[in-house]
Amino acid sequence: MSLADSLSSLRAESLSAIAMLSSEEWLVDYRNEILGKNGKLTEILKGLKSLSDEEKRGVGKHANEIRDELSAAFDDRKTRIELADIERAIASEYADVTIPYSRTDGSHVHPLARVRDEIEDVFVRMGFRVYESDEVTTEYANFDAVNVPATHPARDMQDTFWLEGSGNVLATQTSCMQNHILRTNTPPIRAIIPGRVFRNEAIDATHENTFYQVEGMVVDRGIHIGHLKYTLETMLSEIFGKPVRTRMRPGFFPFVEPGVEVDSSCPFCDGVGCRICKQSGWIELVPAGLIHPNVLREGGIDPEVYSGFAFGLGMNRLAMLKYGVDNIRLFLDPDIDFLRQF
Ligand code: PHE
Repeated sequence: MSLADSLSSLRAESLSAIAMLSSEEWLVDYRNEILGKNGKLTEILKGLKSLSDEEKRGVGKHANEIRDELSAAFDDRKTRIELADIERAIASEYADVTIPYSRTDGSHVHPLARVRDEIEDVFVRMGFRVYESDEVTTEYANFDAVNVPATHPARDMQDTFWLEGSGNVLATQTSCMQNHILRTNTPPIRAIIPGRVFRNEAIDATHENTFYQVEGMVVDRGIHIGHLKYTLETMLSEIFGKPVRTRMRPGFFPFVEPGVEVDSSCPFCDGVGCRICKQSGWIELVPAGLIHPNVLREGGIDPEVYSGFAFGLGMNRLAMLKYGVDNIRLFLDPDIDFLRQF
């Protein structure tokens, strides 16, 4: 066989072999076998020595073209194999995260998600609509719209993460949704808004810079503090799995008037006094109040006609109580031993 013929048949043979290879490993081996330092192409080209200069040039050029063509074929095949591998992985590892979870297959629901699910459940049964809270919001929604103007000292109650130059902030409270809810609904309004909020806090066992709240809002004719008390008692009794009582103490929040701190009777000692309630029989749990007329007005609702209540429940604290978790930082910790307990 002439050198040129050998080259042509090496080309044809290699191209059809490459097209059939289906693993990257084989491809690497075969590439070495053909194009490697001691490969078949080099082997054939050893025969060049015996040719005239003229012939050398012609065959050499042909050999280079074949080398380029085969090299491109190897690269192309490699890409196809990689793509096929990815497609296979996608097909076999596909998970539909929207499928309802099962408690029997060894999976776990994060304690905060469990508490949120339970809270949503109770409120949905009471006719509330569930919204999602914004994590990035405007200075207006977070503060001005809920009766905290720029000059108000209450702005300093929440150490805020400001987003440079944009007028936006990381939501410091789910109350940042109040204005949106009021503007986009007409009374009667019954809404809960679970969400993640952020404060520039010094972190310790009970303070995190990232935590979860549920805002609750009811607006209708004749809403009074009794509706608030009933609603929170119902929710807390459900969450703790036993009837609890509540009491209210005055508390200041610019968006409510009157503002209250709602304490729950301690579900662990039924109000007798124990380590968890520090012997007081009560646990401070939910800041709340009647929605301030300024907030209603800013939301386009006439405070002469309507009234409402709002509360802002800290879910981390509730989950800590419910599950006996003594360090708030565990909620953001991917510690599998912690998470497996739920
Ligand atoms: N937004 C308040 C906070 O984060 C809680 C609150 C909500 C109080 C609604 C009263 C009414 O501290």
